Amino acid sequence: MKTTLLGRTGIDVSVAGLGCGGHSRLGMARGNSGNQASRIVDCALELGINFIDTARAYGTETAVGNAVLGKRDRVVISTKSFAGRAGELLSGADVVASLEKSLTRLQTDYIDIFNLHGVSKEQYPHCVTEILPALLKQQELGKIRFLGITEAFGRDPSHQMLKMALPDDHFDVVMVGFNLLNPSARHSVFPLTIEKDVATQIMFAVRRALSQPAALAEVVNKLIDDGELEETVMDRRNPLGFLEQHPGTRSVVEAAYRFCRHEPGATVVLTGTGSESHLKENIESILAEPLPPEIMTELESLFGQVDSVSGN
Ligand SMILES: NC(=O)c1ccc[n+]([C@@H]2O[C@H](COP(=O)([O-])OP(=O)(O)OC[C@H]3O[C@@H](n4cnc5c(N)ncnc54)[C@H](OP(=O)(O)O)[C@@H]3O)[C@@H](O)[C@H]2O)c1
Repeated sequence: MKTTLLGRTGIDVSVAGLGCGGHSRLGMARGNSGNQASRIVDCALELGINFIDTARAYGTETAVGNAVLGKRDRVVISTKSFAGRAGELLSGADVVASLEKSLTRLQTDYIDIFNLHGVSKEQYPHCVTEILPALLKQQELGKIRFLGITEAFGRDPSHQMLKMALPDDHFDVVMVGFNLLNPSARHSVFPLTIEKDVATQIMFAVRRALSQPAALAEVVNKLIDDGELEETVMDRRNPLGFLEQHPGTRSVVEAAYRFCRHEPGATVVLTGTGSESHLKENIESILAEPLPPEIMTELESLFGQVDSVSGN
């Protein structure tokens, strides 16, 4: 495993992180038990991952807590609380109550990175005035080491919330959607995180569109129909066929993780899976060389200006 610094937190982390949410939720989304989910976490730790991202909302904190018991000091845990629920904003006390529940489920007395989860541009001012002061108190108490914020990439594919939050510089870590179909964070997010030494967790490296051909065709067809991609240069049925045919790449999924890993400004690339074989494969991809330059050029000419889809 390769490691890197988690920005200005100074924590040494694996460049690959285990994502315990997304469509897989460590396999629990398709019926795997908590024990099977813990086994995926064990497997990740055995393969050298030390960064784990979970959240109250995922239902995977207990599985993570069981897996890291006795190894807590070797693992960096990121978890989250929403800032609002059912249209109502949460108070600082509500978020602290959520933190306490996370501590219990994770069987720990501190969280390394405590994030506000899927924050919208509209919620962000409330996060700063109402929730942040309460979390800073918890940080003083030692229950939180560093604060983070995550965007809702599916609804905010052009990073409106992070563009607003980053200049304020309240958070040491941000989670940002970035993939080869929508690399817009390259222009709107990474220049700011690099300047402020804020670490990034990369989500949506693969998601549905880059792991399921039908979902990819749907996204690309939408981009063509919306006039964001030129039909003349795109094969509607197999839009990324050139990645599979190139001798320097193994598959679309492999290329997608490699694409993220080598982006300047990307700190930890999350991989979300309920499959040990996918996990092993994805770690190999994240550790592989940068994509060949001609592929990067082709991807840039096709998708370089896209900021309207997430690949969800
Ligand atoms: N706003 C937020 O805070 C937010 C939102 C979304 C996600 N996240 C975090 O970001 C993490 C990463 O996002 P993600 O889980 O969507 O991750 P991802 O790595 O982009 O995509 C994971 C999806 O791809 C599939 N997959 C993975 N490896 C594969 C392979 N080798 N071949 C074929 N399919 C493969 C997985 O299914 P299998 O189980 O079958 O492998 C899963 O459905 C999440 O787990 C979560 O921790 C945060």
